[in-house]
Amino acid sequence: MTLLDGKYVSNQIRDEIKSCVSSLLSAGGKAPHLAVIIVGHDPASETYVANKLKACEQVGFRATKIALPETITEQQLLSYIDSLNHDDDIDGFIVQLPLPGHIDETKVIEAIDFRKDVDGFHPINVGRMTLGFSSFVPATPSGIVELLRRYGIVVAGKHCVVVGRSNIVGKPVATLLMQKGMDATVTICHSQTRDLKALCLAADIIITAVGQPGLLTADMVKDGAVVIDVGITRVDDPLSPKGYHLRGDADFDAVAPKCSFITPVPGGVGPMTITMLLKNTLQAYHNLHNNNQ
Ligand code: GUN
Repeated sequence: MTLLDGKYVSNQIRDEIKSCVSSLLSAGGKAPHLAVIIVGHDPASETYVANKLKACEQVGFRATKIALPETITEQQLLSYIDSLNHDDDIDGFIVQLPLPGHIDETKVIEAIDFRKDVDGFHPINVGRMTLGFSSFVPATPSGIVELLRRYGIVVAGKHCVVVGRSNIVGKPVATLLMQKGMDATVTICHSQTRDLKALCLAADIIITAVGQPGLLTADMVKDGAVVIDVGITRVDDPLSPKGYHLRGDADFDAVAPKCSFITPVPGGVGPMTITMLLKNTLQAYHNLHNNNQ
């Protein structure tokens, strides 16, 4: 069994991005600039945003955090988005999800200029990706594909079972894996799927993105399978300094010995996600500065 070390691969890619930034600066250009909007104080979101800003600093990007109160109106949030859309100094931006219940996420995503949508959530980017056109691809799915690629794991002709149908992970990763060139056979499972165990047992590659610790047990995984665990749930743990520890969807200790490859949680998909956001931001910078989109 080999651990898919997302932290290690991420650092390799971040070094590549860092040297691109150095070249831009020595050619007299500015560093790429990412803005992140966060609304309210969800602890997990605050951690994700802090990690995204730290990663920007690590590669030499400029980063701006826009922290807005939980009570902000939808209209006020939409005007912040409008000003970022028109700010020539911002190459790309994201609005951290989830948003408070009184704000319509769909409206917010649709308000972002697709050329600055480095999350790849805007319908134009989703549509272009689905058609196989150039687009921003959501960071978690592209991080998964990059991790598989860098470990030489061939997906062509393999049966990939994706557990979870979210717009952020399940749907786009399934779309990517079945594209021409990737050529996997993909099954998407969700809360209404009958006999999840039988489907997972038939999988060469299982990608689980549910957020339910222990969902994937050893009896659901065939010998030699690849397991990509996107779940990252905080489980109360009074003995840990933070008061919690992180758990993936897989029952790691029992599942890992059966796998050819498996991602740990933390340190697997998580760091890759942030790194692919950096890649998208660099892409946005090039698109905007070379006028080629
Ligand atoms: N919330 C959980 N994952 C993500 C992500 O990739 N982007 C944004 N904007 N919010 C998230």
